[in-house]
Amino acid sequence: MASTSLVNLNASSSSWIAQQSFNPPRGSSSSSVRFAGRRVAVPIRAGAYTDELLQTAKTIASPGRGILAIDESNATCGKRLSSIGLDNTETNRQAYRQLLLTTPGLGEYISGAILFEETLYQSTTDGKKFVDCLLAENIVPGIKVDKGLSPLPGSNNESWCQGLDGLASRYAEYYKQGARFAKWRTVVSIPCGPSALAVKEAAWGLARYAAISQDNGLVPIVEPEILLDGDHPIERTLEVAEHVWSEVFYYLAQNNVLFEGILLKPSMVTPGAEHKEKASPETIAKYTLTMLKRRVPPAVPGIMFLSGGQSEVEATLNLNAMNQSPNPWHVSFSYARALQNTVLKTWQGRPENVEAAQKALLVRAKANSLAQLGKYSAEGETEEAKKGMFVKGYTY
Ligand code: 13P
Repeated sequence: MASTSLVNLNASSSSWIAQQSFNPPRGSSSSSVRFAGRRVAVPIRAGAYTDELLQTAKTIASPGRGILAIDESNATCGKRLSSIGLDNTETNRQAYRQLLLTTPGLGEYISGAILFEETLYQSTTDGKKFVDCLLAENIVPGIKVDKGLSPLPGSNNESWCQGLDGLASRYAEYYKQGARFAKWRTVVSIPCGPSALAVKEAAWGLARYAAISQDNGLVPIVEPEILLDGDHPIERTLEVAEHVWSEVFYYLAQNNVLFEGILLKPSMVTPGAEHKEKASPETIAKYTLTMLKRRVPPAVPGIMFLSGGQSEVEATLNLNAMNQSPNPWHVSFSYARALQNTVLKTWQGRPENVEAAQKALLVRAKANSLAQLGKYSAEGETEEAKKGMFVKGYTY
């Protein structure tokens, strides 16, 4: 009798996970397992995509790999292009994304790529779909689905993130096109408070988005970015991050989100960008891991940090410091600026520089891969890679 319940409760198959302690959502029913000799009702989560979500999350959170974030909206991509003197045209955006997505050997270090909608439907200049370029490297295609930030009435000049309307039908199209994970970025500002209202709104929006993503077969990346802006010490960031993540997990649970089928994209816990002292990678790792261990259940497969305006080298050093001892989750990267800066500077929009720029991308991807394994050293890094990219009031 006891052995039956142990077998049931220790089984690691995904279908078993699918039957665990979720509140029954719409369309769900109940089953039962034996526990301590008694039959216990276990609500079944009626998730058509559960096995696939678990597999997708596992592929993305695979050792030595992380995410290349190239989901800049057309306006933000325009800022990247203008930094090297290029116009913000569809042809230039395609050329830049082609450079990134056709880098030979990228899949050794990169497990997922977050795309903007335009890129998901684009092809290379010789007609190969970008999605197929990624799949050939065993990289999972992802899609940014939020519709950006808007002022939040009743708050302290804070914002809220839009994009839930029509999300399920957009997902049906993105899934057909090959996307298997999604990203929704909302922000929390420490100098603006943050107000209880803004934090609750951010957490609720993320949770609704996560539930809709899973219902449609895409692993949600949950990203409440706590902006670097401010002159506060690291202790204040820790306090705010703990508050934000406790609200996020409260509403994820309320929305019956399968924790095994999500990925997180947190900011690292650092002092505000304008604080008088900088923190070492060891201190940032200590505070960040303390916060995560207090707030994130081990059921979550992966923590994929954003870079948030840190320099390429800083972001890699901090990640490396977090992987000096085992963590309950895969701790990795989902960087945009900290993977693209040197690439852009090397490319300069010139076809003859494409190969060198792709090599620069591989250098950064490999450095972060080593940092995911806790084996990175900054020896030999260029001055360019050490330049901070923080922009006050940055919008993505
Ligand atoms: P950064 O790494 O530039 O902060 O990008 C964050 C992000 O959300 C990209 O998807």
